[in-house]
Amino acid sequence: MNWNKYIRQIHRWLSIAFTVTVIANFVAMGLGAPPAWVVYSPLVPLFLLLFTGLYMFVLPYAAKWRSAQNTGG
Ligand code: HEM
Repeated sequence: MNWNKYIRQIHRWLSIAFTVTVIANFVAMGLGAPPAWVVYSPLVPLFLLLFTGLYMFVLPYAAKWRSAQNTGG
């Protein structure tokens, strides 16, 4: 299993989970004051999205650093 592909898939599905929690917030607010766990529920997938996203952001730079090392330049 390609590790980078796996991280990208996790990020993808976390984005769906995050979107669902945001929509749930709009629905809950339409029904009145939502409980705190609903209000804060998007933070869980968002926090995980941050790490998987930063990992993907660094990937192309890490590949460049490594190839620069390998060629001795
Ligand atoms: C929290 C901080 C986040 C960071 C640092 C981040 C960073 C990234 C990066 C670097 C990529 C790869 C772009 C590329 O192809 O080079 C990416 C892809 C993506 N991000 Fe995020 N992201 C974050 C949050 C989110 C959120 C909140 C959503 C949506 C709710 C989201 C949805 C996606 C999707 C759907 C992709 C494409 C995944 C794929 O190629 O299958 N991300 N993100």
